[in-house]
Order: sequence, then C-alpha cells, then structure tokens
Amino acid sequence: MKVLILGAGGLTGRYLTKEAKRRGMEVVALAHRDLDVTRPDGAREALAKWKPDWVINAASWTSLEKCEEDPAGSKKIHTEAPQEWAKECGKAQVRFVHLGTDYIFDGTKKTAYLPGDAPSPLSRYGRDKAAGEKQVLLANPQALIVRLAWVFGHGGATFMSKLPAILMEKEVVELAGGRVGSCTYAGEAARIILDLVEKKAHGITHGVQAGQTTWKEFAMKAVERMREKGKKVRCREIREVPMEQMAGLKTPRPAFSPLEIGGTEAIIGRKIPSWEKGLAEYLDEIGL
Ligand SMILES: NC(=O)c1ccc[n+]([C@@H]2O[C@H](COP(=O)([O-])OP(=O)(O)OC[C@H]3O[C@@H](n4cnc5c(N)ncnc54)[C@H](OP(=O)(O)O)[C@@H]3O)[C@@H](O)[C@H]2O)c1
Repeated sequence: MKVLILGAGGLTGRYLTKEAKRRGMEVVALAHRDLDVTRPDGAREALAKWKPDWVINAASWTSLEKCEEDPAGSKKIHTEAPQEWAKECGKAQVRFVHLGTDYIFDGTKKTAYLPGDAPSPLSRYGRDKAAGEKQVLLANPQALIVRLAWVFGHGGATFMSKLPAILMEKEVVELAGGRVGSCTYAGEAARIILDLVEKKAHGITHGVQAGQTTWKEFAMKAVERMREKGKKVRCREIREVPMEQMAGLKTPRPAFSPLEIGGTEAIIGRKIPSWEKGLAEYLDEIGL
C-alpha cells in the first residue's frame, strides 16, 4: 500500500510517516517545502506523479491567532484545499483522509461530543475546519475524517508537547484553566489513523485517547510520573489562569470538548489506551 502524506513535516505528519514505514507501507512524505497543498492543480499533478493508494492530509495552520489574522489564508488551507484534494482523489480512485479538530464545537455540551454532533465553532479556525470536513465529504463520500484534539509529541509546537520541559525548568508554571478535553500522543494518533486506513474506514471518526483531562491535571500527572522516574522536577506550583488572560490564547476555544471514541474502537477492533498511557509513552520517548 502506497501512502502520500501531506504536511509531513508537522507534528502528526512526522509520526504518521514513521508509523506507516514501521508497518511496511510505501510512504511519500511531503513537507510544506516539498508541496504547498493550496497550489492550484497541485493535487492533480501530485496524484499523477506519485500514484498513491491513500492520501493523508496533515497540513494545517494550527495557530488560531494566525487564522484570525489571515482569514483568506485559513479558508484556503482548511476548506478549499481539502475539498480540492478530496475531489481529485475521488476522480483518481485514491482514498483520502483528512484530519479534523474538536475546535469545531462550542463546548456547551455536557457529555463527550459524538461524530454526528452538529459543529458550532467559536473561531475562524474552527469555522474553516468545519466547512472543510463538510466539503471533503460532499466532494468525496468515501473520504475519512479523523478528528484529533490537544496533540502532543516530540518536537511539537503545542503547549502540551512543551509542558514536560517547562515543568522540569520552572518553579511556578502558569497554564490556561477552565477547559476540559481529550488529548492524544501523536504516536497513538498515527496508530489510530493507520488502523482506520487499514480497515478502509470512511466518514467522520474521532482519533483521541481515552479519558478527559485539563491542562493542569495533565501537568500534575507529568510531574508525578517524572518524579517516580527519579527526575529532578523544579516545578513546585501549577497555577491555572483564565484562558483569555494568557498571551497567545486570545481567540475563544471551547471550554469542554472531549470526543467520544466508541465508534472508532468498534472499527479498529481494539481499545484505545488512556491519555495517561500516551503521556507515559511520550515521557519515555523524550527521556523524562
Ligand atoms: N496540534 C493539535 O493539538 C491539533 C488538535 C486538533 C486537531 N489537529 C489537526 O491535526 C492536523 C495536524 O496538525 P499538527 O498538530 O500536526 O500541526 P502542525 O505540527 O502545525 O503541522 C502542520 C503542518 O502543515 C504544514 N503546512 C502549513 N501550510 C501548508 C501548506 N500550504 N501546504 C503544505 N503544508 C502546509 C506546516 O508546515 P510549515 O510549518 O512549514 O508551514 C506544518 O508542518 C491538522 O489538521 C490539525 O487541524 C491538531
């Protein structure tokens, strides 16, 4: 099986590339510098050149603030490009996977969001990602959407990726409070996505780890685990600050956005491990 990965230089794209190779798949991993997914005719040309069986689109602008500043650019990468790739993949009979986000929801639900729940985004990023999902499935009903949330992994720019190192260095760590969500170690996200690919899944699925958490609980678990392993963690206090007071987090994010994974587990035929297991795996990977 030949897999073409778009946005392969990003956090999820790198883990997808590694996991696909580990499974013996033939991989064409294209980072932003290799291929701009928004380039007109880029999809048609790439499909003709590489002739993949599957395309996985991990290209995105994950900075919500950048999306607010450049709405046309956000629409291009999150709605128009995925629609074009989905359409061209459909024409070429290539299966298409697109990655989604919990930020398409407004956070007012009291229980975990189901794949079929109606989107109600709070930000430009969420709106364009929600429109992208819809357009992908209209253009190519055989496409697969895998929604992720709070992804962390080696070299990731996300706050959760950086948190273990911050906890090692700083005595007092401030983080955004008041939010509950699902999270995913990028290594497990890659396994879930490729399990779904191997099952030829289509439609909307959720690719996060079991359980719900907050950034504070995640940080406390990381401290506990690192201390158990004999690491000299400097952090003595973890302070929650309202999200809107945190620099770089001015754009609204849902206060409650856990994603239900029962449907995904039924398709892939296994239980998805808890986020605590994902965190432990990540800490082992980075030697903390
Ligand atoms: N990170 C999270 O916590 C999170 C949560 C929920 C959902 N997701 C979803 O998961 C997917 C993967 O995100 P990620 O966490 O892996 O993000 P990431 O680390 O920011 O990776 C995204 C990659 O896309 C590339 N890219 C940007 N514009 C591009 C373009 N025009 N053409 C080709 N590549 C382009 C970026 O390259 P440059 O940096 O070089 O521009 C970057 O390498 C996205 O669909 C995102 O919405 C992520």
